[in-house]
Amino acid sequence: MKILAIESSCDETAAAIVQDGVTELCSTVASSKELHERTGGIVPEVAARKQVEFVVPVIDDTLSQFRELGFSISDLDSLAVTVGPGLVGSLVVGVEAAKALALAWNKPLIPVNHLVGHVYANFVGNDTPIEFPAVVLLVSGGHTDLVLMKSHGNFEYLGGTLDDAAGEAFDKTARLLGLAQYLGGVQLSKAAEQCSSSTFSGRLPRAMMHDNAYDFSFSGLKTAVKRLIESEAVSNVPLAVNDIAKEFEDAVVDVLSLKAINACKNYGAKHLLLGGGVSANKALRSRLEKMADSNGVIMHVPPIRLCTDNAVYIASAAYFNNSPKELSQIHADPSLGIMDRV
Ligand code: KG4
Ligand code: ZN
Repeated sequence: MKILAIESSCDETAAAIVQDGVTELCSTVASSKELHERTGGIVPEVAARKQVEFVVPVIDDTLSQFRELGFSISDLDSLAVTVGPGLVGSLVVGVEAAKALALAWNKPLIPVNHLVGHVYANFVGNDTPIEFPAVVLLVSGGHTDLVLMKSHGNFEYLGGTLDDAAGEAFDKTARLLGLAQYLGGVQLSKAAEQCSSSTFSGRLPRAMMHDNAYDFSFSGLKTAVKRLIESEAVSNVPLAVNDIAKEFEDAVVDVLSLKAINACKNYGAKHLLLGGGVSANKALRSRLEKMADSNGVIMHVPPIRLCTDNAVYIASAAYFNNSPKELSQIHADPSLGIMDRV
């Protein structure tokens, strides 16, 4: 079964065609990230206008790749589209484009929850079979969730952030350290890589690390970084940005990895799946791999290019989880959570 998926939840416009939920045939991603870097944050109106500009060329590019493989539109079995969560102005562009194509081509359309999509980045091109129950750690710019995946589409919520998401904490700290104004997770992680052992080791809090629940809190961490920067400013020596970045990253990684491995142990899950933009973080990936290994857990991490927003995992999630819906029943829903069915 070949599904053409469209993703437009935030500042990426993407289309992809995936066969049987696991084989990527073609994929295109356009981004308006550079514009938001200039304004130091996303302006939803600007992101939506860029979605309008990119959506047709992106779909067209994916279809050209499909034709180059010897296929035509008649080989497509279904369409799929992200309906939420995300920015409403961005979402509606993809949703309405997908509906128009479904109508014109007389093909079914499958609505997909973007957060469930991130989980399915683990199923595409993965040679190691994933066995259930599996624990999912979803860490993105807007969400941090720990979920028990009992089978496709059957999730039990274990916990999540009570305030800032992990990615949001990375972004805000990168801004405090002057590393980047917008989506600075990558830059912060690169700065941390420059430091092998931080002079600030143990100085930042690991909130809720040792309680039994699977919830997280990252807003205090960001405030602690702010205080640390202020206290360093009085000493009149240049700010040790890489050292602070490393201690911040260690604090986030400590909490995320301990809770994820504890969840695997307590729920008898032998497989751990990582998803969301922050799963591109090398320190998180390598710590979790080590901990999983020593606890007899098989760790799955998507390739870096499938960690951030794209339409490949949307097509995969559509294949494994959802059925087509009447076009009149498919709407953008900006505030969906990972447990919401669409
Ligand atoms: O999943 P995503 O692409 O968008 C949302 O759906 O939120 O995640 C974006 C988030 C941003 O906060 C970004 O800074 C973070 O993922 N991120 C990283 C890394 N790459 C992306 N955070 C830490 N280390 C990275 N290497
Ligand atoms: Zn995302």
